[in-house]
Amino acid sequence: MSIVDTLRSVLRFRRIELDATTRRLRGAASVADLRRITRRRLPRGVFDYIDGGAEDEISLRRNVEAFRRAEFNPRVLSGIEEVDLSTVLLGRELPLPFVLGATGFTRIVNPAGELDVARAAARAGLPYTLSTLGTRSIEEVAAASDGPKWFQVYVWKDKGLVKEMLARAAAAGYEAIVITVDTAVLGKRDRDVRRGFTLPPKIGPGTLIDGLVHPAWTWEFVRSEPITFANVADLGVPDGSTAASLSEYVNSQFDSALSWQDIDWCRSVWEGPIVLKGVQSVEDALIAADAGVEAVALSNHGGRQLDGAPPILELVAPVADAVGDRTEIICDGGVRRGSDIVKAVALGARACMGGRAYLYGLGAGGERGVSHVIAMLEGDMRRTMMLSGCRTVADLTPEMIRWRPGGV
Ligand code: LAC
Repeated sequence: MSIVDTLRSVLRFRRIELDATTRRLRGAASVADLRRITRRRLPRGVFDYIDGGAEDEISLRRNVEAFRRAEFNPRVLSGIEEVDLSTVLLGRELPLPFVLGATGFTRIVNPAGELDVARAAARAGLPYTLSTLGTRSIEEVAAASDGPKWFQVYVWKDKGLVKEMLARAAAAGYEAIVITVDTAVLGKRDRDVRRGFTLPPKIGPGTLIDGLVHPAWTWEFVRSEPITFANVADLGVPDGSTAASLSEYVNSQFDSALSWQDIDWCRSVWEGPIVLKGVQSVEDALIAADAGVEAVALSNHGGRQLDGAPPILELVAPVADAVGDRTEIICDGGVRRGSDIVKAVALGARACMGGRAYLYGLGAGGERGVSHVIAMLEGDMRRTMMLSGCRTVADLTPEMIRWRPGGV
């Protein structure tokens, strides 16, 4: 054999990919890879708003670390040929136990924003949650997606406004509402404070330089229509068209004195299922179950609110023990791989919810980037269940998980 034949037998060149998005996504094997790509593409202030957490970011870090601390107790030779990831959440069958959670200001990541996320979710048959502070309206998202849609609610001081939004969500076919209850005031996100970050981002001397070194993002930002809180446009409250810090906005507009009575009020103005998001203790999960909400979402807002709040994965089993079947459990915060979803479901969650995970995909490749994340989560889940000996989500039980003592 000549040296040329030998070389030919070992050298394999991938076809050169001309499409930049495909190229970027093809090289991303994990959500962490997508995060790195998004970090390069977005101005640092914008990236930090998404990526950052409150104060010392202890809860942000520990949310993720808790998933590393939970290990499998894998079983082999289980005779499994195919796994089935499907589940039922709030009475609807889902192909896998994952919900795309609400994120505010999604259009600062890419101009289509919420529409890209909603379309990718619909294609996968998964619920997409539109934020009250969304930058696409209830109706725009409904027009873009015929998939299951949920609407996230912040309770404003102006209850009439909330009532009106809920009526619009019902009319547009949203199936459930997610009431966020961990935001009496906005958490202090040190990264945003340091930068004087506003929404929408202000073009000042600092951001100008940041913008110049991220020309693709800046070009898209300046040539697309202005970013506003699309759900409250023309409703007599500031719609975000003038730059403000998020804490000024939240603290002036949202009802900081929210209480359990307000949940009853929400019930009186919304007929469908209610998910109470931001529950962070067994005690509150029990009250929520008594209040009759269809699901609690155990969440510390991705570590963006109370720094020092417990890592979410650690709450799942105690809450599941306490509430039993009285309410469904969703959890979010730190989900980066399908194996994380397997762990949460094994400990007692019905489904996981994620925000940052798909935002990193959105930043790296728009709608296709979000689909890439969903496909990775699904593939991970399938593989993890094959490797740990579980065929269906009903086979995922707490005995499959062992907590590694003493940290990661
Ligand atoms: C945040 C709000 C908008 O976490 O939910 O930034």
